[in-house]
Amino acid sequence: MKVSLTVNGKPMSGEVEGRTLLSTFLRETLSLTGTHIGCDTSQCGACTVHVDGKQVKSCTIFAADVAGAQVTTIEGMANADGTLGRVQQAFQDHHGLQCGFCTPGMVMASAALLAVNPKPTEAEVRHHLEGNICRCTGYHNIVKAVMAASGQDVSMAAE
Ligand code: FES
Ligand code: FES
Repeated sequence: MKVSLTVNGKPMSGEVEGRTLLSTFLRETLSLTGTHIGCDTSQCGACTVHVDGKQVKSCTIFAADVAGAQVTTIEGMANADGTLGRVQQAFQDHHGLQCGFCTPGMVMASAALLAVNPKPTEAEVRHHLEGNICRCTGYHNIVKAVMAASGQDVSMAAE
C-alpha cells in the first residue's frame, strides 16, 4: 500500500507492506538513515523520532499507521542553513556522544523533553532519558548537554 506523510516539513510517500515498521520505512524507503536501529525490541531508543510532535520509538509502530502524520527525524533537527540545531550543538559542545550510535535518539528524546519542560532538572532529564540506552558515555555528558541546551549554567558540572 502507499503511505503519504510529511517528514521534516516535506511531503513524502512510499510503498509499504502492512508489517513495515516506521523505522524501516524511514531508513530503507525514504533513505533517512539518521534514525538508527539498535535493537528492534523497543528497548534502546536509537530509533526515536517525533510523530505529530510526540516522541515515539519508530520500531514500535507500523509505517501505515502514520499516514498523514507530521514526522520529524534527526535530519530535521538542523537549522535551515544546515548548521547544527540547539540540542545537537549542545551535544557537540559538551561531549554528549562518543560513537554516536545512540545520539539521534538521544537528541530527539531530549528535544521532546525541552518542548514540554524548557528548564528540566537533572533528575527530570535522567528520568526522561531512561528509555534511551548509551553504551559509551556513562550518560553524564548527555545530561549536561541537555541542561545546557535548556540555557542552564553547567559550567560547574564535572566533566
Ligand atoms: S531500535 Fe527501536 S528501541 Fe531500539
Ligand atoms: S555514544 Fe555510543 S552508544 Fe551512545
